[in-house]
Amino acid sequence: MGYRAIYDGWKADPEAFWMQAAHGISWAKAPSRALNDARAPLYEWFTDAEVNTCYNAVDRHVEAGHGDRIAIIYDSPVTHSKREINYAELQTRVASLAGALRTKGVQKGDRVIIYMPMVPEALEAMLACARLGAIHSVVFGGFAAAELAVRIDDCTPRAIIAASCGIEPNRVVHYKPLLDSAIDMATHKPDFCVILQREQEVAALVEGRDVAWHTFQYGVTPAECVPVSGDHPAYILYTSGTTGAPKGVVRPTAGHLVALNWTMRAIYDCGGGDVFWAASDVGWVVGHSYICYAPLIAGSTTVVFEGKPVGTPDAGTFWRVIAEHGVRAFFTAPTALRAIKREDPDGKLPQNYDLSHLNAVYLAGERADPDTVIWAQTHLKVPVIDHWWQTETGYAIAANPLGIEALPVKIGSPTVAMPGYDVQVLDEGGHPVPAGQLGAIAIKLPLPPGTLPTLWGAEDRFKKSYLSHFPGYYETGDAGYIDDDGYLYIMARTDDVINVAGHRLSTGAMEEVLAGHKDVAECCVVGVADALKGQSPVGFLCLNIGAARAAADVVAECVALMREKIGPVADFKRAVVVDRLPKTRSGKILRGTIVKIADGTEWKMPATIDDPVILDEITAALKSLGYAKL
Ligand code: COA
Ligand code: AMP
Repeated sequence: MGYRAIYDGWKADPEAFWMQAAHGISWAKAPSRALNDARAPLYEWFTDAEVNTCYNAVDRHVEAGHGDRIAIIYDSPVTHSKREINYAELQTRVASLAGALRTKGVQKGDRVIIYMPMVPEALEAMLACARLGAIHSVVFGGFAAAELAVRIDDCTPRAIIAASCGIEPNRVVHYKPLLDSAIDMATHKPDFCVILQREQEVAALVEGRDVAWHTFQYGVTPAECVPVSGDHPAYILYTSGTTGAPKGVVRPTAGHLVALNWTMRAIYDCGGGDVFWAASDVGWVVGHSYICYAPLIAGSTTVVFEGKPVGTPDAGTFWRVIAEHGVRAFFTAPTALRAIKREDPDGKLPQNYDLSHLNAVYLAGERADPDTVIWAQTHLKVPVIDHWWQTETGYAIAANPLGIEALPVKIGSPTVAMPGYDVQVLDEGGHPVPAGQLGAIAIKLPLPPGTLPTLWGAEDRFKKSYLSHFPGYYETGDAGYIDDDGYLYIMARTDDVINVAGHRLSTGAMEEVLAGHKDVAECCVVGVADALKGQSPVGFLCLNIGAARAAADVVAECVALMREKIGPVADFKRAVVVDRLPKTRSGKILRGTIVKIADGTEWKMPATIDDPVILDEITAALKSLGYAKL
């Protein structure tokens, strides 16, 4: 069956579609039905089932006789090491870690924060939580202690599992002091912390609170898999929203298993024994779904890569990994390819490697610009598939489903809606617009299995953020259009979220940080176009009257403050002091106009502007930063 028949089949009978997909999962108690709409517009899936995620990702493959198949390939150019772990070893390691956690009191429903770099132990920690029915929340290593503290207070973990350090090409990231200061800042205190000591930096342990990864597991009884109900939260992953408070996206257990398993064949055309590589980080949703869970649920081999697209040691690293490990499906962010293309514009390096196992390259996380897609198509000689998704959904909303049918690629479009998603483009009044017309992208409820049922401890915020603007729909926060062939085009965000190097960040959160500087009276942060990172944050600061400080000093302090409060991942390096911000007569800052001036795109003087002269000052300020050249 082709894509159209499958999509139409889903639409005609979603219940039958998902019950069929559920056959790919090994249940402790099989579901009697798929959708539970008892609390509409809040929906759950497979609620009466019982299942364990770790069993599906690990144990069942060993029981099926595939224990010696490689589950994880660890390839770390930053530490010059490589390691393979087969499914049987993974089972032993995860059962032991889970047993140790259980001995210290972790049980079903408890939260566990994981703060680790790209090492196999990060996946083992996630799987050990899943084995016990504990709810993990992985925090990306590029966040500052303050961000970690916010997450500790929001999900109140019984334990935190961390590594002593992470390794960036230019420095060692001292995870342990960051963890210690986050715990100091947080109101909630975990019962204990498990620390993986890395040889690059051995951390000092806090007596009575910290235990070392290996010592902690010594002599414990391995834990078996604990079945949980289908709607049990598998994990919480925090993502940027409009304000400084991150949203805790909840992932439900059974829907997650069913949907991810379905995508592995339908979208990525991979199954047992195939090598799958998502060059992301376990701290992001791509890492959760496609470094850890989906490849393992499908019995594939996943690559855990600790390095960068360039500089570790060169722009050929990705091709070396693909060749050396026989990668079939490769997933990365457009920004990573842009970084490579900048160093290897003629695509010479891929020619040095045997890429014959590679079937396709998948891009997501930000808009895939045509130049980058064409460069990759030309030099890698495989289909380059843009697909669109969000932390909230956990897998692709729109894609080119290569495992079903390779649809014609239209560069600039992540292709078509996947079964489960009725994607529509709406006008401000919530009415569908004709093909080709720009509008807000919304998804008709219910969302499919595996997508967020709510935000952790914040059901009202969930309803307000996603369900209230367009009743009957989930509001994606993206704007775009659908063409006559049903292809989607994602053009921009409708909120304060920006995308920097494939990392989702909130300008609202950054403004809160800047506003906390004693000399800043008013500020705004916008995302301007960046040739490498897609977007880059730029801050505008108005100082308090009487703040007799050099503008350059305040800017430098604000840059440092952002690094301290949000972390290096914010990549906030450019800010400028101005007298006033451009506003409408009702006081709304004209952020959109600032972005257009910075990007050199066509803009019109807003009819509602309070004082047009201010835009001259903004233009001059942007020029001083190297923007607004046109
Ligand atoms: N832990 C600690 N710090 C981290 C980090 C981590 N896991 N990841 C990034 N950082 C730091 C970097 O060291 C850098 O710090 P610096 O300001 O001291 O140099 C800062 O955060 C910004 O990092 P990054 O956005 O990675 O920029 P870069 O200039 O170092 O590298 C690219 C540019 C394009 C190579 C890089 O951004 C990249 O590989 N992007 C792809 C991202 C990706 O795959 N995202 C997947 C989402 S699906
Ligand atoms: P995240 O939650 O970090 O995955 O970021 C989700 C956001 O990234 C989406 O809402 C989009 O704005 C953007 N995004 C992700 N994938 C794509 C894509 N293929 N094309 C355009 N934008 C994308």
